[in-house]
Order: sequence, then structure tokens, then C-alpha cells
Amino acid sequence: MAAVSLHVTMLLLWLGALAGSAMEGLSIPSTSDGPFLPRTVLFDPTLQPGSDDLPHSDPRLVKRVPLIYPEQIALALSTPDAMWVSWITGDAQIGEQVIPLDPTSVSSEVHYGTESGNLTFISTGTAEVYNQIYPYEGLLNYTSGIIHHVRIQGLAENTTYYCRCGDSARFAMSDEHTFRTLPYPGPDNYPSRIAIVGDLGLTYNSSSTLDLIASNGPSLLLMLGDFSYANQYTTAGTKGASCYSCEFPNSPTRESYQPHWDAWGRFMEPLVSTIPMIVIEGNHEIEPQADNVTFAAYKARFAVPHEESGSNSQLFYSFDADGIHFIMLGGYVDYNRTGEQFFWLKSDLEKVNREVTPWLVAAWHPPWYNSYRSHYQEAECMRLEMEDLLYEHGSCI
Ligand SMILES: *[C@@H]1O[C@H](CO)[C@@H](O)[C@H](O)[C@H]1NC(C)=O
Ligand SMILES: *[C@@H]1O[C@H](CO)[C@@H](O)[C@H](O)[C@H]1NC(C)=O
Ligand SMILES: *[C@@H]1O[C@H](CO)[C@@H](O)[C@H](O)[C@H]1NC(C)=O
Ligand SMILES: *[C@@H]1O[C@H](CO)[C@@H](O)[C@H](O)[C@H]1NC(C)=O
Ligand SMILES: *[C@@H]1O[C@H](CO)[C@@H](O)[C@H](O)[C@H]1NC(C)=O
Ligand SMILES: *[C@@H]1O[C@H](CO)[C@@H](O)[C@H](O)[C@H]1NC(C)=O
Repeated sequence: MAAVSLHVTMLLLWLGALAGSAMEGLSIPSTSDGPFLPRTVLFDPTLQPGSDDLPHSDPRLVKRVPLIYPEQIALALSTPDAMWVSWITGDAQIGEQVIPLDPTSVSSEVHYGTESGNLTFISTGTAEVYNQIYPYEGLLNYTSGIIHHVRIQGLAENTTYYCRCGDSARFAMSDEHTFRTLPYPGPDNYPSRIAIVGDLGLTYNSSSTLDLIASNGPSLLLMLGDFSYANQYTTAGTKGASCYSCEFPNSPTRESYQPHWDAWGRFMEPLVSTIPMIVIEGNHEIEPQADNVTFAAYKARFAVPHEESGSNSQLFYSFDADGIHFIMLGGYVDYNRTGEQFFWLKSDLEKVNREVTPWLVAAWHPPWYNSYRSHYQEAECMRLEMEDLLYEHGSCI
């Protein structure tokens, strides 16, 4: 599936049924009240199926800060009173004999507070680099900048915070950013707006999508897989085959141009340094490389609340946002009844307290119900494994 190029937004949501009588006088129909006549909108053939990629020289994609200053700053939800702050310092390298940077050479600090200019709280975190290695003639290797993740804790609900990140001893701190925490979980609390996007990419059309999201002022951005499409480029940075497996059936692995991820991180920064982004992997994040390593960029670049939710994999996890319990499932990792993800899902569903989070939303990348011809029934095995379990726990489809 990694070889299939996706251009159409594919996402799937499960909206949980409302608990008991929590919503007197207001009834939101569930699928068990159906069947309903499907409401369909005919595909508008004048819409272009795709759009050109932004050139890497676009000002939004160019590195704008000196060497060890933070860039690609992003927020992610953790527990209700905590937030992840992530950023990158130093220059990535691609080419021959790349030498990984030392992640301990730049410290990971976030200074924050509830008053602009008075950032009295300091949290520290961890840093790492990742490599994308292709030991094949003609392909190039990549090693990332230093990727920092800091979890800031003890945050008040529904409160505006100001923060700067970086290395204060080296006077390499970011500008001040501001974000607002969500209200703590509770049956009457809902984020005013949640933006949900799949298959964003880095095209001219992606930038219209991002502008539209920003202008709607969401309190949360859910990214349901296929982010940068770095794997549609060769390691030399030229556009690769859109159907790689058709053109190169004997190739050991598909190339992926990792600087495209850095461009994407810069492209996203204006939005996701002020609202939290929650990600789950799609097929374009698999990015196989040497030694059967997969998902290296996804795992290193994004902080997700997997440990917070008792999952030992960044490829599936859950979190609460106001009155909603979100479950993010992995469509490209074992989803079988005998596997770890399934066991984790079962225990996570058993823990959900519908008095606190009446809504249960599960999301993943490959759609279960889909009439689109090029991905028809791709996720059928996953559906057969997990659908009953989600039904048993009172979700509706
Ligand atoms: C998408 O991009 C194409 C060109 O790449 C452009 O013609 C079209 O207007 C764009 N659509 C939107 C909604 O931005
Ligand atoms: C990439 O790294 C591998 C493993 O270290 C090495 O065998 C290969 O020669 C490197 N490729 C280049 C172009 O330097
Ligand atoms: C800065 O914030 C701290 C704690 O939030 C507060 O105690 C202190 O008075 C503030 N300082 C100024 C100058 O406002
Ligand atoms: C959050 O804060 C806003 C603005 O102060 C207020 O209008 C709203 O009622 C608060 N929401 C909750 C759930 O506390
Ligand atoms: C990579 O995976 C293939 C197929 O599953 C297996 O045959 C091979 O031994 C693995 N290689 C390494 C280095 O783990
Ligand atoms: C699920 O189990 C089957 C049978 O053991 C296996 O072929 C398949 O690869 C598994 N699926 C995943 C996603 O691991």
C-alpha cells in the first residue's frame, strides 16, 4: 500500500453514541436508529484531482532561523493538564557520508507562563536524531536535525499560555508563542472547532486547505495520516514515480526524500505552534529503509500521547479533549485480535467513562467504508478484526 499515491482525503470517524440521558430533549440519531437514505454529493469533475507541489524555494518552506535556533515548532496534546512542545535545531544533511548530529549538543527547554514576557516556569525534555539509510547504489542517506520534545505539565484548563523554546544557555530561544489549553474533560465541555484532515501534502492546494483551517480558528487539528508525501520523491529530490511498484517491481525499497519533511514542518509551524496537532500514521509514513526500519520520520518528528494512554507504540494511542475520548488506531501495524494493538484497544475502551467523555471518536487512515475505486476494500481485514469490538463498546458507525 505504501506504493499507492493518495490524492483524495480519506478519513474515517466513529462517533460514539451519547451516553444515556445526558442530553435530555436533544437527540442526535445514531446508526442504530437507521437505516437512513444516504446523503451524497456528486463528485464535481471540474475539481482537479491534484495540484503541483510547492517548490522548496517557497518562503514558507525555507529555513528561516540561524543554525541552532528552534524551527518547525509544533504543539501536541498530552494529558488534559499537559502539552507537548516539539521543535528542530541544526541542519539536516543528505548525501554521501552524512554524520549524525549529537542530540545532547543543544538543550531542550520550554519557558512558559500565563503572562506575556513573564515566563517563570521551565520544563526540560529530550532530543534525538533519526537517519534514513539506503545502502543502494545511487541513493543518498539522510540524517535529521536535532528533534526536541518537551512535555509541559500542570497546565490550567481553558487558559492562555505564552512560551518560548530552545537552549537558553546558548541564547538560542524561539520567539514567544501563545496557545490556549482546552477545558478539562467533562460531559458539558466541547472544543468549539476541531479540524480534521487527511492526505494534506505540500502542494498549492495544501496551502489553501491550511489557510482555510487557520481562518476557522480550531482548538485542535487532527491529522489522519499522509502528511508530507516525502516518499513521492527520490533521494536526489526529483519527483519519483507515482506508482513506484508498477515502474520498479524489483526495487528493494521505495526512496523517500526526507528534506521534504523539514519543508512540511516549516509549512505547518505558523498554525501548529499555536494550536495542538494530533497525528496518526498513514501509508506514506511507512517509508521503509535499510534493516527493515519503518516509520522513522513519523516516530522521531511527532510527539504523541502513547505512553500517557498506556500504549507502547506511537502507532496507536488515545487521549481526551474536553468531553471527547479520541482513539487513534494504526492501519499499518498489527490490528489482529491476537496482537498488541487489539489488546490495548480493548483495555482502553473498558476504561472510557462516558459520564466524563460522552463522545467516543476513533480515527485511522485507511477507510473501512469506501466506494473509491482505487482503494476499494483495502482496510477490509482491519474492519473484520476490530469492528465488533468498537460496536460492543457503544460506538455507532
Ligand atoms: C489547486 O491547485 C490548482 C493548481 O495546482 C489550482 O488550479 C486550483 O485552483 C487549486 N484549488 C484550490 C481550491 O486552491
Ligand atoms: C548510506 O549508508 C549506508 C550504511 O551506512 C552505506 O552503506 C552507504 O554507502 C551510504 N550511502 C551513501 C551514498 O553514502
Ligand atoms: C510573573 O509570574 C509569577 C508567577 O506566575 C508571578 O508570581 C510574578 O508576580 C510575575 N511577575 C511580574 C513582574 O508580573
Ligand atoms: C473558557 O473560557 C472562555 C473565555 O474566558 C469562556 O467563555 C468559556 O465559558 C470557558 N469554557 C469553559 C468550559 O470553562
Ligand atoms: C527484513 O524482513 C525480511 C522479510 O520479512 C526478512 O526476510 C529479513 O531477514 C529482514 N531483515 C532484517 C535485517 O531484519
Ligand atoms: C494479521 O494476522 C495475519 C495472520 O496471522 C497476518 O497474515 C497479517 O499479516 C496480520 N496483520 C497485520 C497487520 O499484522
